[in-house]
Amino acid sequence: QELDMKLESLEKGGFEYFMLKEIHEQSKTISDCMRGRMNAEEGWIHLGGLEEFSNKLLDAQRFIIAGCGTSWHAGLIGEYLFEDLARIPVEVEYASELRYRNPIISEKDVVIALSQSGETADTLAALELAKSKGAMIYGIVNSVGSSIARLTDAGSYIHAGPEIGVASTKAFTGQVTLLSMMALSLARKRGTISQTYFLQLLHELSYIPAKVERVLKNENKIKFIASEIKDSANALYLGRGYNFPVALEGALKLKEISYIHAEGYPAAEMKHGPIALIDEHMPVIVIATNRSAYDKIVSNIQEVKARNGYVIAIVTEGDETISQMADSVIEIPDTEEPLTPLLSVIPLQLLSYHIALMRGCNVDQPRNLAKSVTVE
Ligand code: G6P
Repeated sequence: QELDMKLESLEKGGFEYFMLKEIHEQSKTISDCMRGRMNAEEGWIHLGGLEEFSNKLLDAQRFIIAGCGTSWHAGLIGEYLFEDLARIPVEVEYASELRYRNPIISEKDVVIALSQSGETADTLAALELAKSKGAMIYGIVNSVGSSIARLTDAGSYIHAGPEIGVASTKAFTGQVTLLSMMALSLARKRGTISQTYFLQLLHELSYIPAKVERVLKNENKIKFIASEIKDSANALYLGRGYNFPVALEGALKLKEISYIHAEGYPAAEMKHGPIALIDEHMPVIVIATNRSAYDKIVSNIQEVKARNGYVIAIVTEGDETISQMADSVIEIPDTEEPLTPLLSVIPLQLLSYHIALMRGCNVDQPRNLAKSVTVE
């Protein structure tokens, strides 16, 4: 018994919970994911699995990304990346829906499976179906040698190391890192972005691990914000563009471990429903780092403030306008917009963690949830 406890605390590397350790590991796990696969100075990206099937991927008429839970959220970011940078049409599917929908899939499609465990039953079944229809299957998986990894035609591991906390954190940023690298590589090959922009994104990607470290330094501030909203019954997460899926992921993290009801929405959709819920008891977490939609986010925040909502804004360092409007602000370093999810999700992970801890919840093993869902 005592030995078990000692072993466990050793595995937690000095952190109180696995989830906190895994959040703090992300600078390293993102570097590990990039190691040997890209070099910003020399200007190249090379993903083994992708190079081998490069023609198949370049000729694909569309990508279908399949996953569940947090992996599905990473898939949504993949959709923005592949469409925006590589101009490839993408559909993102819940694996559980895809498998039972009599979907139209052919050998012209490439199905990209996202899974941390590589064992999720619905994802596995969706892939078997896609394979039987002749599509090529590409896996983005964390667990080496897992069932999904074995079923795929090609793929890339995210190299995040074992993830123990049930709520996924470092696997998510690993998946998004890999999707970013894939999109960049395909964009370069297809000539859909300029060499200058390619190099700029590559450099920015290489700076992400150091910037993640900077985000983690805000933990005390995030703890304070957690104490302000920990007794809320609901929370609303808003984001636009690349940060809309991050809003979904932030809401999921809060639900999973703190049992607070939360919803993520594209910021502009707020007026079509959730705005009716806003009053002084509703914390609204807004990811406001997008340069492209800055003014629109500003007006979304005004709409929330006009109804006495409590606004927590994730902004770019040095932001002045939103910082003055919001009740609380968390700054993240500036980066290219397609890469912002890798930074903006981190404060949301920490916020959920601290809220859950303050509410006395078991953050590593939340009730009713399993790390690997091998049944339907
Ligand atoms: C479970 C886990 C989630 C995870 C989802 C998909 O619900 O609790 O954290 O995102 O399964 O798992 P996968 O291993 O396929 O990424």
